[in-house]
Amino acid sequence: MIINSLAYKDYRINFKSYNMIDNNTGNSISTNFYHDSEVLQKSATIIKNEFPKGTDIFIYAGSNGEEALSINSLLDNRQKYKVYSIDISSKAIDFAHIGTYAIHPLADDGFLLNPNCEQNKQFLSRIFHKNFIEIDKPSCPVNNVSDLIYTITFDNVNLFPQRYFIPKESFKENISFVKGDINNIESFNNQQKAGAIFFRNAFYQLTNNNLSGVFKYGDKPNLETNKRKIIQELIDKIYNKIKMNGIFVLGRHLQEHLYIADRTVPLKDTIIVNKTRNIRFMTNHPVIEALNKNGRFKPLFEFLIHGLGNNSLKIPLIWQKIK
Ligand SMILES: C[S@@+](CC[C@H](N)C(=O)[O-])C[C@H]1O[C@@H](n2cnc3c(N)ncnc32)[C@H](O)[C@@H]1O
Repeated sequence: MIINSLAYKDYRINFKSYNMIDNNTGNSISTNFYHDSEVLQKSATIIKNEFPKGTDIFIYAGSNGEEALSINSLLDNRQKYKVYSIDISSKAIDFAHIGTYAIHPLADDGFLLNPNCEQNKQFLSRIFHKNFIEIDKPSCPVNNVSDLIYTITFDNVNLFPQRYFIPKESFKENISFVKGDINNIESFNNQQKAGAIFFRNAFYQLTNNNLSGVFKYGDKPNLETNKRKIIQELIDKIYNKIKMNGIFVLGRHLQEHLYIADRTVPLKDTIIVNKTRNIRFMTNHPVIEALNKNGRFKPLFEFLIHGLGNNSLKIPLIWQKIK
């Protein structure tokens, strides 16, 4: 896969969601329920087909737990599956342990509050409400929407009131929320392998691939970071940790798929995007390159990645271990 069109317009990781920052790293821990629901639904179907007797599922970059809870709601006989929601951010894991979630009508998962949403969303909404209980506004900290535009009040009337939910105890029995770094994945869970590993919308944090820093705020990217090496080493570890026929799932945001070329990338493998500051992108996709190495993984489903060129970039986001 070669990137050759650079008419991108929407490059920042900025979900219409609970934009929260980890205070220690400055990284975004934003997420929402059913984030990129098509990817989650396809992944859940593959997991059920490949591992009907159950398996472990590692949701790395699991943030506050919304992704693990969403996946769990899509599994049948979920007690057979052990789901781990793992994140490097203590703040995210603390929220996950509190286990109270705000849903804002204008956020990406706001459809869960709208009975007239489109059909597939109605399906997701039904399973959500089956597994969650609505509660009054809690006094404990929750993942509130912080964007000012979503929290406008006039004369003390909140224009977009959010609602609050907790997962039913029986629904989350098979999920553990754990603080952990994907770089230590080999020793996680007593060396046990998983049937599925998710690491969505977080590669850019590992590789310091801050497109917004470059294009919006004028920061220079760190060109000394050897992004390709970081990615290849991690994909090797992920490969070793997945069971045969298990899957690895990537994020869908453009910032996961467009990489600033560091100094280790030969010029011929780059495309210039800012002449005055000599900023280049890698033309090869380093994650896909690492996944394709030695035919270890097979791409299963392609999804449209928004924000590049004429919106025609399709990238496989679900990869199956085949040898
Ligand atoms: C933008 S959020 C994405 C959350 C969710 N996967 C999604 O796509 O909606 C990125 C998350 O990755 C986590 N993260 C970053 N580096 C990590 C690492 N090395 N190991 C585990 N989690 C990491 C961050 O703390 C953050 O919660």
